[in-house]
Amino acid sequence: MSVIKRHEAFTNFFQILHPLVAGKLSLLRQQQTDHKLFRELVHEITLLLGYEATQNLSTNTVEIQTPMEKCMAPFLAGPSPVILPILRAGVGMVDALLTLMPQAKVGHIGLFRDEKTLKPEGYYFKIPEDSDKRHFYVCDPMLATGGSAIRAVNTLKKHQVKSITFICLLAAPEGLKAFFDEHPDVPIYSASLDRCLNSKGYICPGLGDAGDRMFGTL
Ligand code: PRP
Ligand code: URA
Repeated sequence: MSVIKRHEAFTNFFQILHPLVAGKLSLLRQQQTDHKLFRELVHEITLLLGYEATQNLSTNTVEIQTPMEKCMAPFLAGPSPVILPILRAGVGMVDALLTLMPQAKVGHIGLFRDEKTLKPEGYYFKIPEDSDKRHFYVCDPMLATGGSAIRAVNTLKKHQVKSITFICLLAAPEGLKAFFDEHPDVPIYSASLDRCLNSKGYICPGLGDAGDRMFGTL
């Protein structure tokens, strides 16, 4: 189990403190890290964050037969959860979460920030029909102003989704405040709480534009 740092101002924010996470995140931030390594690091960090973010998954105990004897053993309880990446950059976190939860379903929400207003514009949304019964893991590497995260969770709640966890790699304090003002019930798991946003709404020290770095569209 990693050390999980709680912040006084954000009681539902869980920062995973682990040397593997910290070291990989430093490589991810470096300007010279190319898109191949960037994708690999996002995958590896998401595996480590996902392990912690899924600790409340429920299990059912079933009797099994081992080669030695019968015993009661826990299995993950249904219905399977849904992973919801925020396009584009959240896509880079999906395979890691599917590695942890191979039975999960995958929804998609397409959002991009208007460069001037910094408000999210929606262009796609698809989730399973019975989503009201499932837990959602919303993923996006970056929580900056919080606008995209808030919009994604608002959209899920409008579709009767009741149980949501948000996983990101970096969060800015301004975005966390905005997010928890609207959604105090949704826990956020992250590798870092960065210092602040700059005048263009980028996280500092941050890692730049996550989507562009991940997909090589710089
Ligand atoms: C980035 C990032 C988040 C959003 C965070 O995506 O992946 O979705 O910005 O910013 P916010 O907290 O201020 O809303 P972007 O809108 O650049 O779209 P892209 O992934 O398609 O590049
Ligand atoms: N989106 C990004 O990709 N990076 C930031 O720093 C802020 C928003």
